[in-house]
Amino acid sequence: TKVALVTGGYTGEAEISFKSSDFVYSQLDKAKYDVYPVTIALDSWFHVSEQGIKIPINREDFSLTIDGHVVKFDVAFIILHGTPGEDGRLQGYFDMIGLPYTSCGALTSALTMNKGYTKSILADIPDLHVANSVLLFESHRRDAVSLITERLSLPYFVKPNAGGSSIGMSKVKEDAALQEALDKAFDAANTGRQVLVEEFVTGREFSQGIFRDSAGELVVLPATEVRTTREFFDFEAKYIPGLTEEITPADLTDEQKDRASRIIREIYIRLNCRGMVRVDFFLEAETDRFYFIEINTIPGQTPQSFIPQQVRAFGMKESDFYAELIEAALS
Ligand code: DAL
Ligand code: MG
Repeated sequence: TKVALVTGGYTGEAEISFKSSDFVYSQLDKAKYDVYPVTIALDSWFHVSEQGIKIPINREDFSLTIDGHVVKFDVAFIILHGTPGEDGRLQGYFDMIGLPYTSCGALTSALTMNKGYTKSILADIPDLHVANSVLLFESHRRDAVSLITERLSLPYFVKPNAGGSSIGMSKVKEDAALQEALDKAFDAANTGRQVLVEEFVTGREFSQGIFRDSAGELVVLPATEVRTTREFFDFEAKYIPGLTEEITPADLTDEQKDRASRIIREIYIRLNCRGMVRVDFFLEAETDRFYFIEINTIPGQTPQSFIPQQVRAFGMKESDFYAELIEAALS
């Protein structure tokens, strides 16, 4: 099976995509899969050969011509966080040329890249709650401070509505710091120039993966609890080892585990997901309610990321897990 391992991208998350795809590459069984890493950059799409030569992708069918010989892929394994691999653009292109891929489809990817829109679709799932929030568009920018202070209570989380890895995100504890946080989030906003401001939920933070296996069954992975000494789980806490304590499987009661698992399955079904996705949520201390934070359709696969930890805690080898995702995409 010839696999294009698609990585790179246009956003600040590209460096994470390379770490994720290096890890996936290291785990894929080369006896079974012929794996070609392919980088998508703004100006070029290419594979680097063993001799270090940059070989461009033929864009009409995503093939490679190496030494006069054409390599046609059977499947694309997308490990590209953010634009254009997590927001539906590449998915739409692969649909057009008929190349199977491991992730959610174009509509689901585009929708879930928009945190605000996704929240409104999931808000009526039984036992799932969403924090009060305001979704700001570029045209709201001038009145943003009053729009927020009239509708929300402190502290706030301010984030680009279509970002990842906490880039451009701030926790705001006093209204005096709001404008600066809004400017930072608007400046970091990639797509659509939207900013999401949410009320802070006090409690514990969790993240949990789910995937559909090659037999078509949904498999919920064990949850991870994130405990950071920083103000919130920001970019540094996510990727600098040691700044965060991550507990997998998370210490939840059986009832909480069942509830989380029901919620996550329902999210996967309602959003018509494919492949692996990861849902982040808070468990509010006072009320024991689960609050949806966001869903990631190309979740991180760096050695520090949650999904590899959860796969191991589930008793599966990463190599078998990634092979399952390829087989599911081909089935
Ligand atoms: N956006 C990062 C890569 C994640 O969700 O893991
Ligand atoms: Mg994310």
